[in-house]
Amino acid sequence: MKPLIVANWKMNPETSDKTKELLDSINKETVKNREQVVICPPFVYLSLVKDIKKGAQNLFFEEKGAFTGEISPLMLKDAGCEYIILGHSERRKIFGESDELINKKIKAALRANLKPIFCIGETKEERENNITKKVLLSQIERGLDGVKEAELGNIILAYEPVWAIGTGISCETEKAKEAADFIREVVTKLYSLNLAKNTPVLYGGSVNSENAFSYIKEGNFNGLLVGGASLKAEEFLKIIKNVL
Ligand code: PGA
Repeated sequence: MKPLIVANWKMNPETSDKTKELLDSINKETVKNREQVVICPPFVYLSLVKDIKKGAQNLFFEEKGAFTGEISPLMLKDAGCEYIILGHSERRKIFGESDELINKKIKAALRANLKPIFCIGETKEERENNITKKVLLSQIERGLDGVKEAELGNIILAYEPVWAIGTGISCETEKAKEAADFIREVVTKLYSLNLAKNTPVLYGGSVNSENAFSYIKEGNFNGLLVGGASLKAEEFLKIIKNVL
């Protein structure tokens, strides 16, 4: 499977001018790898992302109606999105998203033919208490509850240890590999070995140009979810160059 590199821009850049500048630099250099790079900007900048795959960072699970401030899966599809980041720890923590809500969002995304990038990961405390596997298992079971085998082909899992996100403290490749192996074990148990082999598992959490390739080569990951480093054109392009 070819590695996928996903940029999660979060609530950045601050203006459309800065967004255009960043996109221009990325676009110029990624011509050969277009199929393997995905940009997930804030909603208002989606239309600025051209000639490169794009995704959104959130959606609401209803199709339309009186839901002030929300965006539907179909609207995202219509805006050219192929991917959608769901279950991100910032949404779980800051916005109180539960596994149940994430599950509804995943199913709504699949109905609209969007590919969920489903994030899971333990907090520092959970790792220290040796319950990482328990947490991952529960997040996957609940998040994918009712998702059928035939739909799993559109799901991408992203292992993002919460303590590694935005901290500059990336997860050691070996530890990350253990998590990736476990995630594939869970998918095998819930679905099948074949589906586990074909479901991409990304790593996210303080990825930079120096550590990026080790997650693919030694960590057995199928790609990366990049936050901070994807906002610096030069650094992001180095990641792409080192991995693809
Ligand atoms: P980071 O963020 O690369 O800045 O740690 C990753 C993410 O939140 O997806």
